[in-house]
Amino acid sequence: MTAFAPGRVNLIGDHTDYAGGLALPMAIDLGTTVVGAPTDEPVVRLTSDDQPEPAVVPIDVGDPSTVAPSWARYVAGVVAEVAPTHGFRGAVHSTVPIGSGLSSSAALELAVALAVGFEGDPLALARLGQRAEQRASGVPCGLMDQLTSACGIAGHGLLIDFATDTWTPVPIPADAEVVVVHSGEARALAGSAYAERRAAVEAAATRIGPLGSATLDRLDEIDDPVVRRRARHVITEDQRVRAFAEALRAGDLTLAGHEMVASHESLREDFEVSTPRLDALVAELCAMPGVVGARLTGAGFGGCLVALAEPGAVAPTGRAWVVHAADGARRIRS
Ligand code: GLA
Repeated sequence: MTAFAPGRVNLIGDHTDYAGGLALPMAIDLGTTVVGAPTDEPVVRLTSDDQPEPAVVPIDVGDPSTVAPSWARYVAGVVAEVAPTHGFRGAVHSTVPIGSGLSSSAALELAVALAVGFEGDPLALARLGQRAEQRASGVPCGLMDQLTSACGIAGHGLLIDFATDTWTPVPIPADAEVVVVHSGEARALAGSAYAERRAAVEAAATRIGPLGSATLDRLDEIDDPVVRRRARHVITEDQRVRAFAEALRAGDLTLAGHEMVASHESLREDFEVSTPRLDALVAELCAMPGVVGARLTGAGFGGCLVALAEPGAVAPTGRAWVVHAADGARRIRS
């Protein structure tokens, strides 16, 4: 049995998924493969190229968040959700850099779920992965990472509406290159202010309704200035996602890049999830000839940036990868 799930990069629309808003991510050609076979022993045993210790998880695991080593929690979250009837022994190989904001954990979750016998459609797979992630990490993440990994389409970004969990493929123009640049700052979601940001967005929604359908003129009804700024980010980010999708469809890379930079500014000023290093790298990238726009991607607090550029504008290095929009999670051999 071989199962594969890709990482993802979000082109635009961050901290909108749990607000019922819009995002436009794509699955990438970096991913996680699980190779192995079912066993009679009631245990899922996985080794990983990236980890010194294996994951050894009983198929009736109780609380995934207490499992050790820490990477095995994600395996345990999936096992708890899939509730397989048999054990599994195998190995994990991944080309997604860990903890960088490219959804290495979503790729692991979905590949493990398919390997241990998950049956269902890609949306169900994504939701199972999200529950596994929340149980493993305690972070109340949204659905974007797992949905993109499950439903990716080669050559396309996915314009996702999280009010309905539906998506529309948007072709990535042939004259555009997507470049991911690692900031060098490790990003630890669990230790971050992610839950606090989500709570602020939810507080805003209790006042003015779901932010995915709210308008800017309602912001005055929010008393707390911090909550108001968080809500302003979500509402304006949805507008930018729409404009970005239109720009991609029209092949207007300059406009698309402009929306990405505006997104970064909103994430920095209103949502406060950027860092000085991410800001400096966005400025550096945008000053390079052929780069039309750049922004932090994912939760923020370090991790990766994404840039849209003319082919060849950014030279690949150990910290910069040209990525291509790829198909979603699948079993390669059963
Ligand atoms: C993380 C979460 C996603 C999403 C992004 C921010 O990647 O897992 O659900 O909220 O942050 O857009």
